[in-house]
Amino acid sequence: MEERILTPEEMTSDEFEKTIRPLSLEEYVGQEEIKGNLDVFIKACKLRNESLDHVLLYGPPGLGKTTLAHIIANELGTNIRTASGPSIEKSGDLAAILSTLEPGDVLFIDEIHRMPRYIEEILYPAMEDFELDIIVGAEGNSRNIKIDLPPFTLVGATTRAGDISSPLRDRFGIVSKLNYYTYQELEQIIKRTSRVLDFEIDDDAALELAKRSRKTPRIANRLFKRVRDFALVSGESHITKEMTTNSLKRLNVDDEGLDGVDIEYLEALILKFNGGPVGVETIATSIGEEVSTIEDVVEPYLLQEGFVKRTARGRIATDKAFNHLKIEQSFREKKNDQK
Ligand SMILES: Nc1ncnc2c1ncn2[C@@H]1O[C@H](COP(=O)(O)OP(=O)(O)OP(=O)(O)O)[C@@H](O)[C@H]1O
Ligand SMILES: [Mg+2]
Repeated sequence: MEERILTPEEMTSDEFEKTIRPLSLEEYVGQEEIKGNLDVFIKACKLRNESLDHVLLYGPPGLGKTTLAHIIANELGTNIRTASGPSIEKSGDLAAILSTLEPGDVLFIDEIHRMPRYIEEILYPAMEDFELDIIVGAEGNSRNIKIDLPPFTLVGATTRAGDISSPLRDRFGIVSKLNYYTYQELEQIIKRTSRVLDFEIDDDAALELAKRSRKTPRIANRLFKRVRDFALVSGESHITKEMTTNSLKRLNVDDEGLDGVDIEYLEALILKFNGGPVGVETIATSIGEEVSTIEDVVEPYLLQEGFVKRTARGRIATDKAFNHLKIEQSFREKKNDQK
């Protein structure tokens, strides 16, 4: 399957994200409960002159975990060191990172569920007692060494909280789940991006974009950037609602934030299999995709938004899916014309 503009996962063209990341809790839109708690904890640990408790952030891709990790370091006024779970292969890798930490620093480990188990075990005493216990030297001539570490804050991020072992999870004092964003919050994010990138967008256009962004800031920003390109090329100085709907039509993103693959899936389910129940393998074969692609990439949003239901006998299309395809009749005809 080619790269989809609606994927919540990071694409290479999302490099620009770094430049539009909010840098403070105040600028970070939504997630009010998490923000409120972090604000208190950060203030308290500054008053006590201690390091912040370890923080575990989990939730679907593109909702702002990495952004929040950087904000925590900013708010603490400390440095942030970053690593990703799968990149820490040897105990030496972890030791090298830990030894660069200064008191109060943030160590951000992304994809922490993919950290090897034995690295995890070295991390336990580091998290609990700020002590590094490692074995050095070759086999037969090895010895244990203990190194004192400065107090630091581990911020772990994961899209799969279920894959984290409970001993690791238990060592985080603050565990926060990021939620999907409301249209109003996404609209705010889009307007903020428009200010940062210095390209105006009308209120109704921002709301329209928000509605098609799958409740995910990363997708909202990506769509904003694409629509801005369309505006720029047609010599416009700001983005209107009309321009937004036209651009999204060209990008094959419909008014529910579904793209060609989603529609193909729903059409197969409804038109070929009468709305189900039908096995996922059968749907996958009929539209020429891998089962894993369907399950990991296509279905999550359709299930979450209630277009499809998973039952013991297979997938079922809901009324919402039937209604949506009817509404989108013109969209489909147009797609067929292009073929
Ligand atoms: N609450 C927010 N307010 C404003 N912008 C946000 C917010 N959350 C995310 N963003 C924007 O969305 C982009 C993606 O966020 P981020 O990279 O932090 O997601 P993530 O949860 O780490 O994703 P992944 O699971 O793929 O690592 C960021 O560049 C940021 O600009
Ligand atoms: Mg991230």
